[in-house]
Amino acid sequence: MPTPLKVAVIGAGLCGLVAARELEREGHEVVVLEKSHRLGGVWVYDPRTESDLLGIDPDREIIHATIYKSLRTNSPRQIMGFSDYMLGGKVYGDPRMFPGHQEFLSYLEDFADAFGVTKLIRFNSEVTRVELLDSGNEFVVEWKKNGMSLTEVFDAVVVCNGHNSQPRAALDIPGILEWAKKQLHAHNYRVPEPFQDQVVVIIGNESSAHDISRELATVANEVHLSSRSPNVKGLKLENYNNVWQHAKIDRVFKDGTVKFQDEVPIKVDTIIHCTGYEFHFPFLKTNGIVTIDDKHVSPTYGSVFPPQLAPRLSFVGLFYKGMTFLPAELQSKWIARVLSGKISLPSETEMLCAVEQVYQEMKEKEIPKSDTHSLNFKMDYIDWLSDQLKIARPPQKFRDFYAHFIERYRKDNEGFREKFEEDVLLCDEIVAE
Ligand SMILES: Cc1cc2nc3c(=O)[nH]c(=O)nc-3n(C[C@H](O)[C@H](O)[C@H](O)COP(=O)(O)OP(=O)(O)OC[C@H]3O[C@@H](n4cnc5c(N)ncnc54)[C@H](O)[C@@H]3O)c2cc1C
Ligand SMILES: *[C@@H]1O[C@H](CO)[C@@H](O)[C@H](O)[C@H]1NC(C)=O
Repeated sequence: MPTPLKVAVIGAGLCGLVAARELEREGHEVVVLEKSHRLGGVWVYDPRTESDLLGIDPDREIIHATIYKSLRTNSPRQIMGFSDYMLGGKVYGDPRMFPGHQEFLSYLEDFADAFGVTKLIRFNSEVTRVELLDSGNEFVVEWKKNGMSLTEVFDAVVVCNGHNSQPRAALDIPGILEWAKKQLHAHNYRVPEPFQDQVVVIIGNESSAHDISRELATVANEVHLSSRSPNVKGLKLENYNNVWQHAKIDRVFKDGTVKFQDEVPIKVDTIIHCTGYEFHFPFLKTNGIVTIDDKHVSPTYGSVFPPQLAPRLSFVGLFYKGMTFLPAELQSKWIARVLSGKISLPSETEMLCAVEQVYQEMKEKEIPKSDTHSLNFKMDYIDWLSDQLKIARPPQKFRDFYAHFIERYRKDNEGFREKFEEDVLLCDEIVAE
């Protein structure tokens, strides 16, 4: 492949920014197309919410922002930031170990400026089509800007449009679509005030469910968490006089009652679905080569390259449940170096076989499709990427720090931030590089 290549990066969130930096470093000609007027993706707080609060109607006005006003990071600063520019030593006004979202955004803006990425971004440019040309060597990329439709041909496309904006509500709960009271997905939760004195049900068992329930406990009358995990018993939570944990919801009724498994129905004002997001690439036209099914984007070699279109089409950031900065940076370096010919990929057939083998193993172990790109809070994938790049795997100190953090995170899904800060203060051993 001739270098430098002309590469389009779709999205100027965390992943698009680091992809652009790494591509530039490899000498490629980079254009970042960003639909919003500013960079930062999900870290740009927007008080607006969508017209369809569950995010079902495809014609609703889409709001990319997904964070609530009080959101603090759920990972400590020590593991955030890109190499040569870690967040650890930088403070933009909120020095806490788990800072508020504004700190994260300031960091991303600063990073983009420091590495000359901001000037590569074409803002207000929403990509509507990415399609391989008949030649097989180039992609046509089409985007909307100020009501106009523009197209340009690129040698390669890196998809970084994020996957925390298309709600995945719990629509399979019997009666949920007929439920007459208010319901929303966490994507459209911003502040607690509208839930004053209400009885609120929160579906989910991840960060957003715990953060939002904790926040609502201060204003709502009652907060009821519901989890699908097996063996969950209904009980009142310690340290709260108005928060309960329940098993899954059996069904909901038109009159606003909710029936949890093994319990009598209760009257509820609002249901909040903290049930995650769908992967969504509405612009990608690959003639069926790449398919998306239940968060499973396939086939993708190393969760990055669809073998038949490699290395010209790639994804950064399909992963979740784990670190963000490090895997995004390693994926970006891998793509940039493969495109410049410094690293070669296995043949298409070999990659397809490898991918098939991974999917087969998942089937045998009964791992759900939706876990394909999950990091499971482990380092395996990061090590694998380091090996592809032929660089050292993360050092032991860093691994220990991360393992300690994850242990805390899992044990205290509510107070893990405070508890981990305490751990670090008490124990000199837990210090990341
Ligand atoms: C509630 C919440 C809390 C989180 N907390 C943490 C945390 O504490 N620490 C951490 O490391 N990670 C956290 N994450 C993970 C978070 O997803 C990553 O930090 C990171 O923001 C992912 O970046 P991204 O670039 O993949 O996606 P995004 O941030 O979503 O950026 C995608 C960009 O693509 C643009 N875009 C989308 N479609 C198009 C299109 N068609 N054309 C042009 N542009 C387009 C969007 O406007 C956006 O700017 C959290 C996520 C959520 C939802
Ligand atoms: C939440 O998920 C964790 C695993 O991540 C599990 O150990 C715990 O039991 C779950 N809690 C509830 C209430 O579902």
